[in-house]
Amino acid sequence: MGFPSNKVIGIIGGGQLGKMLIEASRPWNVKNIVLESDPNCPASLVADEVLVGGLYDADKIRELAGKCDVLTFEIEHIHVDVLLELEAEGKQIIPSPKVLKLLQDKGIQKGYYSQLELATAPYFLVENQAELQQACKALGGSKVVVKNRVGGYDGKGVEIVECADILNGAYNLKAASVVEYFYEGVSEFAVIVSRNANGDIQTFPLIEMFFNSQSNLVEFLFSPARISHELEIKCNQLAIAAVEGFNGVGLFAVELFVTATGEVLINEIAPRPHNSGHHTIEGCYTSQFEQLNRILLDLPLGNTSLVQPAAMINLVGAEGLTGAYQLKYENELMEIPGVYVHMYNKKEIRPNRKMGHITVLANDLNLLFEKAEKVKDMSGFAQVD
Ligand SMILES: Nc1ncnc2c1ncn2[C@@H]1O[C@H](COP(=O)(O)OP(=O)(O)OP(=O)(O)O)[C@@H](O)[C@H]1O
Ligand SMILES: [Mg+2]
Repeated sequence: MGFPSNKVIGIIGGGQLGKMLIEASRPWNVKNIVLESDPNCPASLVADEVLVGGLYDADKIRELAGKCDVLTFEIEHIHVDVLLELEAEGKQIIPSPKVLKLLQDKGIQKGYYSQLELATAPYFLVENQAELQQACKALGGSKVVVKNRVGGYDGKGVEIVECADILNGAYNLKAASVVEYFYEGVSEFAVIVSRNANGDIQTFPLIEMFFNSQSNLVEFLFSPARISHELEIKCNQLAIAAVEGFNGVGLFAVELFVTATGEVLINEIAPRPHNSGHHTIEGCYTSQFEQLNRILLDLPLGNTSLVQPAAMINLVGAEGLTGAYQLKYENELMEIPGVYVHMYNKKEIRPNRKMGHITVLANDLNLLFEKAEKVKDMSGFAQVD
């Protein structure tokens, strides 16, 4: 390709993932255009151009395609059918919209895992109350997880429900859903899989995630994960099989559960950079964002090894906070070596809104936990009037 490149990358969505994807492309002098309805979106600060338009606006997506050499997306909730048309017309779109179509609907996604015999939580697809009740009885636990088939994100559209409430009519189904067996006490992991058009694969070191039980958001994570070598291999194999099964080209975050009895299950796949990979910016030789840029630009895959054990803490708006905001211990945090503060350029704070994240690096895992706990305690926001 040669540097500098005169290639233009088009990104559908201008949130923090788009922003960080663009930041990682800067060493190579490519141009980036994002499509987003808000001209002041997080990525607007770093994009060469913001095409203002909705993510379901087929004409705007076509306009973006006309302005760029390669198209990608940083969010799943977009007009996929126009992307399928564009791909058929010869436009390069990474990952393929065929893969997006498969993953956009959690029902179809679960069907894909079953078809490939990839281990996943037992489930039923339901459209009404009677089917929901039947599914509860058939799954056999005291609780189930009800997941909207389409439109959910950041744990929205996912509910853990007592079967008793479903059977006695206290809980009503809101939308066509996947109903899953609820595993008490699962540990949660992610494998980020990068795969280029030649079929070369690099996975990032296994990531262990902790979720906030109220908001269902990733609260913090670290890598390497504390898990046996045997289970780690199982996680990697499952993630790679899932991505190879749909011939995925791009970057895929594969969320996995390890159950209390040691079963490894695939939960879901995001066909884009993911919150579970933010620590890779400072923690790995190649970040998830750089890796996707390499794939978009047809450059060799980068080495994904950890430089140091890494943790990531999400900076999320607390209940009751709205409007202008400031990180309470900004200066103190900035003074700690191996602590990297990222802010997403969001104008206003809201409860449960992802405002930024902090990466923490340390020489060994014990030190890392200590340091990450300390940073977590210092990571609150104050409202500024
Ligand atoms: N079958 C299950 N058993 C136990 N816990 C589950 C199960 N399914 C989901 N959960 C919990 O709910 C969380 C959110 O579920 P899931 O990842 O399917 O939804 P999501 O809305 O796509 O989330 P996100 O966008 O944040 O990744 C999981 O990370 C896990 O903590
Ligand atoms: Mg998830």
